[in-house]
Amino acid sequence: MKTRPKIRTLDIMPDENKLTCSIKDFHDLTLMELYNIMHLRDVVFVVGQKITAECEVDGEDPKCSHLLLYLEDTLIGTARLFLEESPISVGRIAIHTDQQGKGYGTRLMEFIADFLGERNATMHAQAHLETWYASLGWKRVGEEFMEAEIVHVKMTKNQ
Ligand SMILES: CC(C)(COP(=O)(O)OP(=O)(O)OC[C@H]1O[C@@H](n2cnc3c(N)ncnc32)[C@H](O)[C@@H]1OP(=O)(O)O)[C@@H](O)C(=O)NCCC(=O)NCCS
Repeated sequence: MKTRPKIRTLDIMPDENKLTCSIKDFHDLTLMELYNIMHLRDVVFVVGQKITAECEVDGEDPKCSHLLLYLEDTLIGTARLFLEESPISVGRIAIHTDQQGKGYGTRLMEFIADFLGERNATMHAQAHLETWYASLGWKRVGEEFMEAEIVHVKMTKNQ
């Protein structure tokens, strides 16, 4: 029997900012949460990085659980996790363009690591971020490859 991912919430920076993080199954998202995730990804990937070689809304989201990182009441970060896959695939990691470079991405990745625990995970990382992901415990596997016209590397965790 399939178990649906539980909603996880953790106050991860209680003393510095009102930053909260949760991971929800697609079917548990409210309409507003879904809209905000799509809007955030559009701002970051389509407008910010000009990624148009592949559809941002690619039809895969209903299979995923979605991370929502809020600064007070504003969604500033997101990611999606294919929890039914083994290893778990992580993607669409994004911090709002206005909030990048302030440490929130690192917090987001720490939350993902906490959520994963010992479970194996994989992702296609933009190659220029390899050192950062490596500092967070991800390991590069294999050669660089092109995806959405951007150089990527496969990275794994707990493998
Ligand atoms: C990548 C991203 C999630 C990081 O979030 P962030 O809040 O900016 O990250 P932090 O402030 O915690 O900084 C973490 C690291 O990001 C790295 N980084 C962020 N943007 C970078 C860029 N354009 N080039 C190189 N490194 C970058 C830095 O190495 C930084 O490490 P440092 O503090 O040791 O210098 C965010 O910048 C983002 O959404 N970028 C656009 C979308 C994207 O590339 N997503 C990842 C796809 S694999």
